[in-house]
Amino acid sequence: MTATGPVGVGFIGTGMISNTYLENLTTFPDINVVILGDLDTEVAKAQAAKHGIPQWGTAADVLAHPDVELIVNLTIPAVHAQVASEAIAAGKHVWSEKPISVDRESGRALLAQAQAAGLLVGVAPDTVLGPGVQTARRAIAHGDIGEPLSAQTVMQYIGPDIFHPSPEFLFSKGAGPLFDMGPYYLTALVHVFGSVESVAAVGSKSRATRTIQTGDRAGTVFDVQVPTHVSAIAKYVDGGISQSVFSFDSPMVKMGVVEITGTEGTLVIPDPNRFTGDVKITRAPAAAAIMDEATWESVPITGVYAERGLGVLDLARAARTGGRPLASGELGLHVLDTMVAIDEAVTEGRTVAVDSRVDPVPLVSDDYDPFAATL
Ligand SMILES: NC(=O)c1ccc[n+]([C@@H]2O[C@H](COP(=O)([O-])OP(=O)(O)OC[C@H]3O[C@@H](n4cnc5c(N)ncnc54)[C@H](O)[C@@H]3O)[C@@H](O)[C@H]2O)c1
Repeated sequence: MTATGPVGVGFIGTGMISNTYLENLTTFPDINVVILGDLDTEVAKAQAAKHGIPQWGTAADVLAHPDVELIVNLTIPAVHAQVASEAIAAGKHVWSEKPISVDRESGRALLAQAQAAGLLVGVAPDTVLGPGVQTARRAIAHGDIGEPLSAQTVMQYIGPDIFHPSPEFLFSKGAGPLFDMGPYYLTALVHVFGSVESVAAVGSKSRATRTIQTGDRAGTVFDVQVPTHVSAIAKYVDGGISQSVFSFDSPMVKMGVVEITGTEGTLVIPDPNRFTGDVKITRAPAAAAIMDEATWESVPITGVYAERGLGVLDLARAARTGGRPLASGELGLHVLDTMVAIDEAVTEGRTVAVDSRVDPVPLVSDDYDPFAATL
């Protein structure tokens, strides 16, 4: 018998980002967070007390909980695939923070395991399901910039060692600016252009070590294991091209830049790491004399605003209704495949083909209401 009422959710990993998830998931009537688990059970206990979650314990406690239908995996990238695989083995649907895994093989194996078990995998980011990126996508689908041709994205700042109390994982395999922030930008680009066909890239590392700036371990020096600046270009199967900067090396903050140029105009997509923002379009000037005075048309934002957790909700609803999640494991795997290919292009100095393909990602319906009880 199919269950009814809110979907029971358990968390594995209750560190920094769990606050945002818990604040939001506890406001959606279709979700019931029943238990939190972490390697450090004191952290899980403190988060449970803070957010009014009745139970806490280890990851094994979450996996064994009979009321948990879906696991939210907020561990660090190196163990995303392993924890997600344990969730599937325990008969639970799973939402993982990005990236889906740190190598192609474990990502592919996870999706095969889920498919065989008849369970769903969803992967962050869900920011791109928010009204900001969705409004921009609707404008493109409506033909407001003509045929999309090219894009440029920029994400640069000095790096997460200045705000994260345990930043080592962000400078290790599976992170760095490409794997940590790339998913937001590359997912937005795949939403617009479809599957990536090939990539080329160069990268560099400004410092061999970094120093933790905040928290109990401030002053601790750790090794930087990955490039901290990557410039990548990509070609899409259906014809688009893009250029992207991902950097933890620049004191000059420039984030959330996503510009799509089509045959009729250039559209600015809001920061794909946020759920909303300004969507605007500029068109070719009528004369050279006014080239410096771009005029902008604002596109009114439509859709209900919600924050991180939207993808978990979409996954939970899909699990119950037999649908497919929009922030799907297949999309997460294609984005990972693209990032691994960019990494290989940096290391090997050649253009690298991206073999995986993903179906076009449908738009979120205009009347999608996260705050409605639908199950
Ligand atoms: N912090 C952010 O601003 C942010 C934003 C978006 C996404 N994310 C992503 O969310 C994930 C978690 O990031 P975070 O900043 O919360 O990290 P964090 O280091 O603060 O927390 C991770 C937690 O996972 C636990 N953990 C690790 N391995 C585990 C395992 N095998 N079983 C159970 N628990 C385990 C750790 O004990 C820790 O409490 C990462 O993938 C990160 O990229 C973080």
